[in-house]
Amino acid sequence: MSETLPELKNLTVVSHPLVQHKLTLMREKDTSTASFRQLLREISLLLAYEVTRELPMTTKKIETPLCEMDAPAIDGKKLALISILRAGNGLLDGILELIPAARVGFIGLYRDHATLLPVQYYYKVPDHLDERVCIVVDPMLATGNSSAAAVTLLKNSGAKNIRFLCLLAAPEGIRHMNEAHPDVPIVTASVDSHLNESGYIVPGLGDAGDRMFGTK
Ligand code: URA
Repeated sequence: MSETLPELKNLTVVSHPLVQHKLTLMREKDTSTASFRQLLREISLLLAYEVTRELPMTTKKIETPLCEMDAPAIDGKKLALISILRAGNGLLDGILELIPAARVGFIGLYRDHATLLPVQYYYKVPDHLDERVCIVVDPMLATGNSSAAAVTLLKNSGAKNIRFLCLLAAPEGIRHMNEAHPDVPIVTASVDSHLNESGYIVPGLGDAGDRMFGTK
């Protein structure tokens, strides 16, 4: 869908068939909590592949059966995964399976249902953010209010190299991020049509946190 919205910037839509197929299953309203969670874990592995392009690399000395070599390895200590609570944790778990050495931070923001504006209730991030690539994870980029606020908090903590990973994005949220943080690339599996009057992404998949944790 992003081809029809050329004004959206810094955007990568992961159109791989496996991602799109799993996303369709997640969108279906009758998909169980267990399946939703499993699909999210699987899809997060595939999205992680895209968002971790150009990660800082290091080398480590290894011995092959033939000789020693300096072999390339991801510098996991230079990476910070930042989960926007609570739905971000669904994406976080899968990525951590791929990069277990990554440092992890959490930002607690909830959306005031009347104003749709983010209210902060928790903030704990790794130190030396200025030296790290920060990947912020939240499945739903809706209004962009929470995402932009989270990125601002990270920048205030020194972060300079930030990427944003989500499952679904609304054009409104991408525009908001583009305006507030033009330096932050966004990776998503889909750009949906629009937001409804309650701030839900349409067609979307409903409330990601509720579906993931079975709270509704
Ligand atoms: N958050 C969600 O969980 N779903 C939406 O559609 C929008 C924000």
